[in-house]
Amino acid sequence: MYPTLLATHSLVRWLVLAALLVAIGCAYNGWYTNRKFSRFDNAVRQWTATIAHIQLILGLWLYVISPFANQFLKDFNNSVHQRDLRFFGMEHSLMMFIAIALVTVGAVTTKRKPVDNDKFRAMAIWYTIALLIIVASIPWVFSPFTSRPNFRPFF
Ligand code: HEM
Repeated sequence: MYPTLLATHSLVRWLVLAALLVAIGCAYNGWYTNRKFSRFDNAVRQWTATIAHIQLILGLWLYVISPFANQFLKDFNNSVHQRDLRFFGMEHSLMMFIAIALVTVGAVTTKRKPVDNDKFRAMAIWYTIALLIIVASIPWVFSPFTSRPNFRPFF
């Protein structure tokens, strides 16, 4: 279960990033050209939030079974001084949680704005902030202490 969940969580990261990039592209384009907020824009807004929520559920599930998170919670005082345990036990999980909350607020705010240009602006701003936090909190393959592969095999 653990390797499959870890590989799925790793893979879904690319979907989250792709969805956010498409949504942000639509949002800035619509904001600056003052065009109509189309059904496609709305679908992109909604799918981006849905994919982020799927990743949140995978992340929470992973947190329960991950040896890193378990070790962190079991021995907090020592673990907090170890880079990888602190990263997965606290930093990554908390920052991603905040980022997904921002995507959620952004999706709802965008939906509720009555004027199309305000919808684009809300989606552009909330999703951009969320994307920056996510990019900064991913354990990239080039991260010095928390390096993880770009694609993890399922078996
Ligand atoms: C957009 C949101 C998120 C992205 C893009 C993301 C991305 C990633 C990536 C790329 C890894 C490394 C996977 C690997 O080792 O191959 C990872 C690991 C992990 N993530 Fe996330 N994550 C997100 C949200 C979350 C959340 C919300 C939680 C928990 C509340 C979480 C908990 C974890 C844990 C515990 C691990 C390490 C598991 C282990 O190695 O034992 N993630 N995440």
